[in-house]
Amino acid sequence: MGRRSPLLTLVAAAGIGACADVDPLDPSLGKLPAPLVSSSTTMVTAWDVPNNPLEDPTLGRSESAEQIRWGFRLFTDTPGEAPHLTAGGVSCNNCHINAGQRERALPLVGVTAMFPEYNRRAGRDFTIEDRIVGCFFRSQNSTGLIASALPAMDDHVLPTPETPEVLAIAAYLRWLSRGFEPGENPPWRRRNTIAEENRLPMDQLDAKLGEAIFMERCTNCHGEDGQGVQIGTKKAGPLWGPDSWNDGAGASRIYTLAGIIRYMMPYMDPGSTTDEEAQHLSAFINSMARPSYPFKDQDYLTEPQPVDSVYYPPR
Ligand code: HEC
Ligand code: HEC
Repeated sequence: MGRRSPLLTLVAAAGIGACADVDPLDPSLGKLPAPLVSSSTTMVTAWDVPNNPLEDPTLGRSESAEQIRWGFRLFTDTPGEAPHLTAGGVSCNNCHINAGQRERALPLVGVTAMFPEYNRRAGRDFTIEDRIVGCFFRSQNSTGLIASALPAMDDHVLPTPETPEVLAIAAYLRWLSRGFEPGENPPWRRRNTIAEENRLPMDQLDAKLGEAIFMERCTNCHGEDGQGVQIGTKKAGPLWGPDSWNDGAGASRIYTLAGIIRYMMPYMDPGSTTDEEAQHLSAFINSMARPSYPFKDQDYLTEPQPVDSVYYPPR
């Protein structure tokens, strides 16, 4: 034990045969070469994925590489790859567009280096796996799958930080964050926000006005019923109704959804709505019925409940 054969040492030193064994997450490999897709999309860049593990020949065929590829497939087609964890028709990629690699569309490049991180809603530190589980419970509405079984809840269908699908997505996101130092806050993080001073007070939000803007600028792709129209390989929405994210998701908060819309939509002309318009649009979308998150009473037990959590009973 402890002594390597001279031949193995020679092979390792020469890098011969190393390819198959290289860990694609090894930080000494440095950052991935490709930058984010620009926030001003054109027909050409709309489908771009700068770092695509399915097409990257340097990734090799190690177990870790296979996990990263599966994580990517889960991220870009969540209902197709993980129907037992997704109640509706939404993929991670619907909100974190271009596979989480687009500026001002909730990009996830570099973010795993920021975890573990304090989570206000839960009042405790979250690992990246905890965060992904939260996305499944809420944005993917995993809890919708057990809703009929409540309160005699069937625990095993809900994802945990050890669920293979969660670990695979974490591997993909870690790969996107390779070479980032722990605590190195990426400059593109958390920029889908409406500045505090531009937030309309809750009683000035106008869902009727939001609906009128929606009918004018969004229905081409999202449909008048908000359920989404197929455009090539992409399908927008569903923005409300039983197949949408549930009412415990970040997107069901007014200012959060407004920040997404403001810089990410309309798809071919992002940035064309004003802060005010984005907030009225958000008020309209979040005035509609959506699946109920059954554990709302467990949120915000430590930190105050935000004013824009419109689906939560006032505390
Ligand atoms: C309905 C929209 C939506 C969907 C679908 C969605 N997310 Fe998110 N995600 C958000 C919002 C909003 C945030 C909060 C962004 C912020 O804090 O600025 C977020 C945050 C995150 C974060 C933390 C980012 C950071 O910088 O700390 C991760 C990781 C993440 N999502 C992963 C996922 C994964 C994985 C999926 C699919 C299983 C997913 N999301 C599905 C809207 C969505
Ligand atoms: C040209 C087509 C197009 C237009 C117009 C458009 N969207 Fe989208 N939208 C999309 C597509 C496609 C996605 C999903 C992106 C993906 O999966 O890559 C999307 C995603 C979204 C999402 C993320 C959540 C989800 O369920 O998909 C929201 C919110 C959204 N759009 C709101 C709007 C609003 C509000 C408008 C009008 C101001 C708008 N969109 C106009 C195509 C469009």
